[in-house]
Amino acid sequence: MSTSPKQSDELGTGARSDAQDSLKHPHQGLQGAFGISVVGIGAFVPERCITNDDIATLVETSDEWITSRTGISTRHVVSGDESVADLAIAAAKDALASAGMEGSEIELIIVASSTPDTIYPAVACQVQTEIGAVNAAGFDMALACSGFVYAMVIAQQFLKTGMHKTALVIGADTHSRYTNWHDRNTCILFGDGAGAAILRAEAGAEDNILASDLHIDGAKGMELTLFTQAENCPLVAPKTPVNNFVYMNGREVFKFAVGVVPKSIQHVLARANMNIEDVDHVVLHQANIRIMQAMSEKLNIPEERLIVNLQRFGNTSAASIPIALNEAVLAGRVKPGELLVMCGFGAGLAWGTTILRWTAVDQRLPQTLKTEMQQKLSTMKPLAAASC
Ligand code: UT7
Repeated sequence: MSTSPKQSDELGTGARSDAQDSLKHPHQGLQGAFGISVVGIGAFVPERCITNDDIATLVETSDEWITSRTGISTRHVVSGDESVADLAIAAAKDALASAGMEGSEIELIIVASSTPDTIYPAVACQVQTEIGAVNAAGFDMALACSGFVYAMVIAQQFLKTGMHKTALVIGADTHSRYTNWHDRNTCILFGDGAGAAILRAEAGAEDNILASDLHIDGAKGMELTLFTQAENCPLVAPKTPVNNFVYMNGREVFKFAVGVVPKSIQHVLARANMNIEDVDHVVLHQANIRIMQAMSEKLNIPEERLIVNLQRFGNTSAASIPIALNEAVLAGRVKPGELLVMCGFGAGLAWGTTILRWTAVDQRLPQTLKTEMQQKLSTMKPLAAASC
């Protein structure tokens, strides 16, 4: 990154610190130590809701089986021409309202989606134009149910280097379009939706994303797959046609999740010099209530610390963590100063965990709750643990 001598002087004296200034010079880079915080959260799900009884009209199953084996009662699905970008844009606007920000303040947009309607333009480009993020860079990434946590950690790296000051991270998926609605092993699980978070860098501030842990294990990749359809050039041998529906070996994925996720959470806690008792809320990917219960047993997490909403939304893949967190924030359950662990896991196979301190006062809350959150923020103590 090159800066003019004048800009270097300004950077050296720390003069260039406000949002306006960084907007004037969007991608020129800032220097120094930056602390990263989440300043807004948002979500959106399509209107159409499908019940377990509705699914029982398509395959041999029952509300009793689905509820007892998964914890899911309903899920929302896209209809007509509703797109992943539509969901992502609505979630982004909700997150901007939560942060009390304008789209023009966003400098980086990362969309985690494995089911985009278009490979290009990227969903991030569609979001960028709709929210008026005129100075933003952006891109999409695909890592299924781990996508949101990965995107958060990627955004954190961009912000920590000073390349951007404000990032919008979105998880958005429409697996209902890639579900074989005659396969009872998978069609009971997925719902559509989008969730978004806004991250901001502050020079000299504490870093509220304390530690993270990201992994992939491609050797087990074929346990959970979604192939894309495409054909070879007509002058060469044709490609074997693929079935572009979700395939999942449910038992193997279940075992994998219960095996790796508790270790990943313990690893992140150790890196942040914390214990599980220090954590106020755990937001796991909303895949199956039995997976969440098994993990909380392994780690001794009291159930009331788990944020769970898969009963109503099913498994929304990259969107599940921010949709769950958004609900908890709107309910006034998550307060400034509290510690949150988020963990995504699934296709890849992949998994990612991050621990963060909540510092946002959500602008969508009623005034009484906003005042309470503001007070909590003003009395928040500095973090004792080292961040990494
Ligand atoms: O987001 C990505 C990450 N994904 C996950 O984490 C999903 C992980 N896996 C799971 O959540 C569970 O494995 C499932 C919910 C997918 C399946 O639950 P399960 O307890 O592992 O069931 P199972 O596959 O072992 O099947 C048990 C029985 C079978 O019958 P038999 O062979 O015992 O006679 C299945 O045929 O249940 C039968 N079955 C069903 N019965 C009624 C499977 N699906 C259904 C169904 N309704 N929908």
